[in-house]
Amino acid sequence: MSKLIAPSILAADFANLQHDIEMVNNSEADWFHIDIMDGVFVPNISFGMPVLKAISKHAKKTIDLHLLIVYPDRYITTFADLGADILTVHYEACKHLHRTIQAIKAAGMKAGVALNPHTPIAVLEDVIADLDLVCIMSVNPGFGGQSFIENTYKKVNQLKQLIEFSESDCQIEIDGGVTNKNANQLIEAGADVLVAGSYVFKSENPTETIADLKALIN
Ligand code: DX5
Ligand code: ZN
Repeated sequence: MSKLIAPSILAADFANLQHDIEMVNNSEADWFHIDIMDGVFVPNISFGMPVLKAISKHAKKTIDLHLLIVYPDRYITTFADLGADILTVHYEACKHLHRTIQAIKAAGMKAGVALNPHTPIAVLEDVIADLDLVCIMSVNPGFGGQSFIENTYKKVNQLKQLIEFSESDCQIEIDGGVTNKNANQLIEAGADVLVAGSYVFKSENPTETIADLKALIN
């Protein structure tokens, strides 16, 4: 299966969102990666429902929504109505993760779980069969433009083994500090989807950067 690129909208120009969304629509990118941050689960606030609604109106590709918030269960149906195709919650934010995953699926979305850099893969053993996506955080979440944590490769290997062992068809996504320097090694370790924020949007020609990254990993 082809490996996917998901530009992270957090690094887009918020004063020119429509322009950047159209750029992604017309590029070789596969998904829109969108981070909702609440200032509680992470030390930053990104944007909320009204902005997501505006993005959704223009986005023509899969919306991969990454919730960096406490109590994500409160908003599952809201995010479904706002156009999320994949809804990813943090393991660290969910007391009843199994229930949350079922609720995401019942709302008609694919279910993802994200793990912070300190959280071991093994915590997913009992839910992996129910998951469509696991997002391995390769930076401490909250901000774009941070450097990639090298321990991620080991975690991707471990997750790949767990997925194969459980015969699940869950995809592995990497989020944080992705560039052309680590993309290949991540794919070799078993990654399926690479999120890239600053590397894409701060480059001179984002469309070309996406195309180059896509060619590099496929
Ligand atoms: C970090 C967010 C990421 C972020 C990645 O907390 O979850 O999606 O936008 O940005 P870069 O690619 O710049 O590290
Ligand atoms: Zn993210």
